[in-house]
Amino acid sequence: MRQIKLLVWLLVVGVVSSTEQLQFLKNFLEAVHKERSISTILLIQRKVHKNDFLHGLYPIFWPIICLDETKRVELVNNFNKDFLALVYMESEADTLLLSALAADLNHIRDARIMIWLQMSPSENFLDRIVFQASKQKFLNLVVIENTLKTRRFYPFPQPKVQVIDKPFEEKEIYPALWRNFMGKNAIAVPDLVPPRSFNSFDPKTGHRRESGSIYNVFKAFTQRYNITMLLKWPLIRNTTQEEIIGKSVRGEIDLPITGQLISFRHPNGSRSQPLLGMTALSIAVPCGPELPMFDRFFLFYGLATPITITGYYVLLNTIEIILGTLSDRIKRHPRRKKILNLVLNLRVFSCILSLPTPQGNRLRSVKGQLTMVMSITGLILSCIVAAQTSTILTMKPQYRHIKNFQELSDSNITVVCNHLNYLTIKQQMDPKFMAKFMQNIWIVNSIEQMKMIFDLNTSYAYQTFSYKKDPFTLLQMHTTRKAFCRTPGLDLVSGLAYTAVLEKNSIYALALQDYTLKAFSAGLVYYWAEESIRDLISTVGRTQFEKLPIVIGYQSLKLQDYNVCWKILLIGGALAFCVFIVEVVVGLINRRI
Ligand SMILES: *[C@@H]1O[C@H](CO)[C@@H](O)[C@H](O)[C@H]1NC(C)=O
Ligand SMILES: *[C@@H]1O[C@H](CO)[C@@H](O)[C@H](O)[C@H]1NC(C)=O
Ligand SMILES: *[C@@H]1O[C@H](CO)[C@@H](O)[C@H](O)[C@H]1NC(C)=O
Repeated sequence: MRQIKLLVWLLVVGVVSSTEQLQFLKNFLEAVHKERSISTILLIQRKVHKNDFLHGLYPIFWPIICLDETKRVELVNNFNKDFLALVYMESEADTLLLSALAADLNHIRDARIMIWLQMSPSENFLDRIVFQASKQKFLNLVVIENTLKTRRFYPFPQPKVQVIDKPFEEKEIYPALWRNFMGKNAIAVPDLVPPRSFNSFDPKTGHRRESGSIYNVFKAFTQRYNITMLLKWPLIRNTTQEEIIGKSVRGEIDLPITGQLISFRHPNGSRSQPLLGMTALSIAVPCGPELPMFDRFFLFYGLATPITITGYYVLLNTIEIILGTLSDRIKRHPRRKKILNLVLNLRVFSCILSLPTPQGNRLRSVKGQLTMVMSITGLILSCIVAAQTSTILTMKPQYRHIKNFQELSDSNITVVCNHLNYLTIKQQMDPKFMAKFMQNIWIVNSIEQMKMIFDLNTSYAYQTFSYKKDPFTLLQMHTTRKAFCRTPGLDLVSGLAYTAVLEKNSIYALALQDYTLKAFSAGLVYYWAEESIRDLISTVGRTQFEKLPIVIGYQSLKLQDYNVCWKILLIGGALAFCVFIVEVVVGLINRRI
């Protein structure tokens, strides 16, 4: 009985022989490798500790990098993150190894880490490890003490370590904890630049709510990964996008609801690239004014249509005269023809105008056949004219607008640009090009710039992002007249990836990258963009920007569109009626005489 008690006591205290420790270590490495292959082992221990704790395991299958707290290597530049970091600690002072490790693992802090404690740790010591691990944003960490008691680090929602009883019997030693943030609070700040994020008006409830293309991405992301999004509207309304990016990089904001172009990302931010879209930088110029009605008719009909119609008239009239004369000769009763009748042939007229012509029973005569031909010609001509007329009335043609950089520079128009994009353009473009073609630049913040665009302020040209179904295109699709035009000739750069901004080594990086990639390939990113633009249009329609002549769908021709035609018809009818009355009166008078 005493012996059993002693054995239990020994087990509890956990005296474990070094062979058992080595066996455990060996099993551990194999299990981790089986889970996800290890490319390299990074062994890190204090310089003062001379003994190699892997001694006895050699030969080891994997290459080993040995570092101590004095050496700094940014491993990300030379290795992938499939390595296993082994940290050896003997005393409480050894926690400084964690900050050394953090420096080595810059940008790859989600690599797998195992801390081997050659001692029995106090609660206090474990707390310090947890504090350090959470501060350095380690995600995959296991602490094993010399009694083989194994603890796993859980970073979310509050960082803690928990003992795992049978590490090798669990499904995974390093589970992907970043798939569930367990309701961790994340501070999100929107930049309030539509359509990325804005206050939309919900007609159902009559309340304002958050909306926007990037806001939608982050909202779905936080729901999917069990993150509590603490939305903080910027205190000062005109917090710029740059300030938000700067704050995010300094770690004051977890999830900034904004984006940056991948080629011009903040140098101190995360290297992960959560893709939010593809875009081009282009310049939108004011469209030419709408053509006045006369110009439109002239543009479409030009001189060709009247000349064609007159030509037909002359031709048909001549044929009729020749045939009439010939037929009179044959029948031998010549009729005298008035000169006026030769020029103004009402029958040819009415045929060309597609009006009903008295046919009589002359269908089989030459003249009857000619009338048929004339009627068909008239039908075709009137169809052409009708088609052209409806084009003029439905389409609103505009004068030509600026099509390339040369014209832009010649027109001397001011280009309104936001600061971030201005810096981007300056970085990307040849200074000579800038000096030559874009001398007049006015820098405003993005919110102001969007407001000017919505106000249809056509005194300026604007630098905009252009992508598939961007708000610029969609907004103008719903307006009756086009205010701004874009041409490929005014694209500055195209094919740029637009990505989210995150703090360096952000704990959300892996999850967000994973999520946006899936959302992007499923087309959700575009869907959300469209949804938010619909929202934007309905909000814009009912609030401050009332100038936008919004029409949902296309306009068809209505009877009112033919106003002028109806009036002419009415005047003609009235005139004919008057003539008729005069004729009747004259007839009556003549009869009396
Ligand atoms: C989300 O986090 C909460 C803790 O805040 C947790 O209780 C819940 O189980 C999590 N949800 C899922 C689906 O994992
Ligand atoms: C913010 O807007 C206010 C007025 O709306 C203006 O006085 C202030 O200068 C602006 N701040 C910045 C940083 O643009
Ligand atoms: C990036 O960080 C370094 C050092 O922390 C700092 O000197 C530099 O100004 C930062 N760069 C920017 C653009 O903020």
